[in-house]
Amino acid sequence: MSYIPRPFIDELLSRADIVGIIESFVSLKKQGNNYIGLCPFHNEKTPSFVVSPNKQIYHCFGCGVGGNAISFVIAHERLTFVEAVELLAHRLGLTIPSETNSIKSPGQKKSQDLYSILQKASEYYEKQLYQSRQAIEYLKNRGLNEEIVKHFHIGYAPEGWENLFPDQRADTNFRKQLVTAGLCIEKEKGGVYDRFRHRVMFPIHNQHGKIVGFGGRVIQKEDTPKYLNSPETPIFHKGNLLYGLYQAFQSHSERLLVVEGYMDVIALTQHGIDYAVATLGTATTEHHIKLLFRRTSEVIFCFDGDAAGQSAAWHALETILPVWQDGWNPKFMFLPLTEDPDSMIRQEGKEAFEQRMQRAQGLSSFLFKHLLSRFDITQTEERAAFADQALKMIRQVAAPLTQALLLQELSKLTRIPVEQLKKMTASQKIFSISQKSTPQKIKLSPMRLAIALLVQYPELISHLDEKIFDFKIPGIELFKEIILILKNKTLTTGVLLEHFRGTTHEHLLDRLAHYEFIIPEEKLRLEFKGALDQLAHYHRDLLIEHLLSKSAAGDLTETERQELLVLLREKS
Ligand code: UTP
Ligand code: MN
Repeated sequence: MSYIPRPFIDELLSRADIVGIIESFVSLKKQGNNYIGLCPFHNEKTPSFVVSPNKQIYHCFGCGVGGNAISFVIAHERLTFVEAVELLAHRLGLTIPSETNSIKSPGQKKSQDLYSILQKASEYYEKQLYQSRQAIEYLKNRGLNEEIVKHFHIGYAPEGWENLFPDQRADTNFRKQLVTAGLCIEKEKGGVYDRFRHRVMFPIHNQHGKIVGFGGRVIQKEDTPKYLNSPETPIFHKGNLLYGLYQAFQSHSERLLVVEGYMDVIALTQHGIDYAVATLGTATTEHHIKLLFRRTSEVIFCFDGDAAGQSAAWHALETILPVWQDGWNPKFMFLPLTEDPDSMIRQEGKEAFEQRMQRAQGLSSFLFKHLLSRFDITQTEERAAFADQALKMIRQVAAPLTQALLLQELSKLTRIPVEQLKKMTASQKIFSISQKSTPQKIKLSPMRLAIALLVQYPELISHLDEKIFDFKIPGIELFKEIILILKNKTLTTGVLLEHFRGTTHEHLLDRLAHYEFIIPEEKLRLEFKGALDQLAHYHRDLLIEHLLSKSAAGDLTETERQELLVLLREKS
């Protein structure tokens, strides 16, 4: 079904780490052998989404979705199969074998995907910038040089309502795509008009370098809103994106700096701090945190020195606590009142700004300082209230070392023995799979059982013997097919499933891959042998039946008669 050679896909999937891939979109926590989290494909409050690193598959016990890394990318990013493979290959630095990578699936030319529409729009805006004196003047006045403008692909959306893709606008489907991409808005009376007009355009890339949306800034002060962003689209989710992240990933810095605005990122980069990223006018989300700390352990959050900055910082801190992992080093810095990173870096330059970063406070220091400013802990009652507040926050930290250190710090401040504080955090809620998600209760036939076991634990192949190939029982063909695939090399469940994408067996195998065995792992081999024995018996029974009916018809040969006797003796 694909134009990409099978060995390449096998290779890609064996190298891809499904946990890492899914973690860039979903917060996951380790639980036993698996990782669990809130399902991104349906709304839920208790996690029923499970990712297995051993099997390299995911499954949601709430809504039933599941599959391997490619399936996840297809479903989550709404990509075609080829695009999903391209994305994963890019991520792993693999090149799709060249004789095939130019072949696109037939439908692809007609309905352009959102990514390519946004890419083309961005190229159009970039060209337009050089047609507009006003836009160029504006960027110059803001101190940007040509190099940085090119680096961030800054552009200009001209005045007027129908500038984008004039040749294709007659096509209804294409107009729909423009609306879906967030570039156009539907008119009440039909037709569409450009969303971005007379604005400086900042394309927003996802972490893989694809343009997924835009921010557009007014040029004239009196226009509103100051920044207009793409709406949420199938590929643009503000809570998952950070402006400049893709560019910052290209830098060699060990750390990342999080600021508030597009212009902050750009100015910082121009002045040599090329590892700054910005949220898109929204508060920091858990997704952001995960994205940031996947690349580095040191993340500095930079805020304005005013009350709004303080409360945004506190919000970021609260978002970090529940996902904090040992080894992460989140820091906080506050700029003088009335400054932002853009104005600051212009004023004082790279070195002074980096010294400011050096003085950033660690998360724990910010946490305690902030709480201490609200309580007078020389008073017993207030000290208790302080301890209570702090414990509430520390309790959310699942990282054991970090939590222990925070408790020690709290003990020092309150003079409450650390042991006692520890006991008080023990009432922690356990992050576990919701009760309603009981495993499927359907009983499997021996054939299905054998297939399910082999799909989930491909290493069981070593307990098979050749006589399975003589069996003539319903459903055995699929089993043999799997055996043949696994014979040459050991594959994970995720890779194995890929071989059946688009076949009639896809759905069944998906279900079997997620069938929950209630047997402990060390008993799996016995269970598998048991299933194989049952298959052997079934095969024998069918054979006996066949020979008996032949004998009744009177055309049993002598060898067949002998065989029948042996079989009947074995059976009793
Ligand atoms: P600020 O209003 O602090 O602007 O918005 P700024 O970054 O200093 O912008 P300049 O320097 O005046 O150009 C910070 C961020 O908040 C979002 C944008 O992402 C902006 O970069 N924002 C702001 C909006 O989304 N819409 C707005 O109307 C304003
Ligand atoms: Mn600014």
